[in-house]
Amino acid sequence: MTGEPHASQTSAVDVVVLGAGAAGLMCAIAAGARGRRVLVLDHANKVGKKILMSGGGRCNFTNTGTTPANYLGANPHFCKSALARYTPTDFIAMVERHGTAYHEKELGQLFCDESSKQIVRMLLEEADAVGAQVRTHCTVESVEQPGERHFRLRTSHGTLECGALVVATGGLSIPSMGASGFGYQLARQFGHDLRATRAGLVPLTLSGTHLERVQDLSGLSLEVEISCNGASFRNAMLVTHRGLSGPAVLQISSYWQPGDDLRVDLLPGRDAGDWLTARQRERADAELRTVLGEVLPRRFAQRLCEVWLPSRPMKQYTPAQLRELADTLACWPVVPSGTEGYRTAEVTLGGVDTDGLSSTTMMSRRVPGLYFIGEVVDVTGWLGGYNFQWAWASGHAAGSAV
Ligand code: FDA
Repeated sequence: MTGEPHASQTSAVDVVVLGAGAAGLMCAIAAGARGRRVLVLDHANKVGKKILMSGGGRCNFTNTGTTPANYLGANPHFCKSALARYTPTDFIAMVERHGTAYHEKELGQLFCDESSKQIVRMLLEEADAVGAQVRTHCTVESVEQPGERHFRLRTSHGTLECGALVVATGGLSIPSMGASGFGYQLARQFGHDLRATRAGLVPLTLSGTHLERVQDLSGLSLEVEISCNGASFRNAMLVTHRGLSGPAVLQISSYWQPGDDLRVDLLPGRDAGDWLTARQRERADAELRTVLGEVLPRRFAQRLCEVWLPSRPMKQYTPAQLRELADTLACWPVVPSGTEGYRTAEVTLGGVDTDGLSSTTMMSRRVPGLYFIGEVVDVTGWLGGYNFQWAWASGHAAGSAV
């Protein structure tokens, strides 16, 4: 950390990065490596808070299967250039250089063996090695632009002048961790359009009878395939006391819009009709609820048969009735009432409109020298390390250009 200048002092650097999170620190490292004098400012009391809390304290720092198809945004092509120029392999090389042990949990998701603190320490060491300075507890009161590629920031630590300003202040998720709408405010100040923001990778809530029917199953988890608006995810679904969560639900929440139904395949990877027909042959006297209990948590199977499916001995179903049962099992309808919102969301969808930014440098098309990177931009990844990979890649793209 740097010493803190007196409040009346004016200092000048080449680059000021606002936000010492994943994207901001990576940008500082790349810019510092090119000999730029960089200062990173953060209003929080410590850097990289979201990195620290991520992945259950072990930081799912990238995904080896990252492709542009793993991202949402109004322009699906925007993320391609940055992702191609700073890949998971590049970040893994840095992690390995620092001797941090890691493992793949599932589906290409890489986590630290020990602690996400190792990722923050690594980024700070890298920043320090290239002379980039990082200052916490620093509030930016105003940003002015006295001339082309000339920005003046009035901060709680004095006035700063710089030729390039990088906005890496993240999204709105988890306000208690330092999230603010400051990046959007700056974008607006400099004439950028914003895409509507909403919570993503967030538990969905149920209400009324929809909630009453499952609430007491809270804590129960099952593998499903959930579909909505053309997207589909196969993974665990968890019943909570407010609705539904678990990786499959978090993933689909980014595609869900108020009023949409979800379609849940309760027997993913099986043809429900063929399976029921086979079970009818093999367990003719067993009740449907017992048969379903072979492949679903028993209490869940029981509840399905109390509310959605008529449970009788298997031999009593006609082929047409079996087909109806199969349809319900393959397409169990869920009607969320909303999401848990930014309080628990992992990411913010929407943000700075990518039409106003260069996809190779992240620089504003309107204001030379102004950059937007990371989550503040309208690029949002799936669950599974994709959001950090976007933060590293977009940070690196800007850091290579400022
Ligand atoms: P980030 O939020 O990291 O950093 C922004 C920084 O700007 C913060 O340090 C903040 O204090 C600062 N700031 C904000 N306003 C400011 C202001 N006005 N002035 C100065 N500074 C300001 N992703 C993933 O890939 N793998 C994972 O395992 C997880 N896990 C996870 C868990 C939880 C609980 C959450 C909430 C999120 C995740 N994510 C994740 C998502 C991931 O954390 C997120 O996408 C990145 O941190 C985004 O990086 P940014 O640098 O853009 O913002």
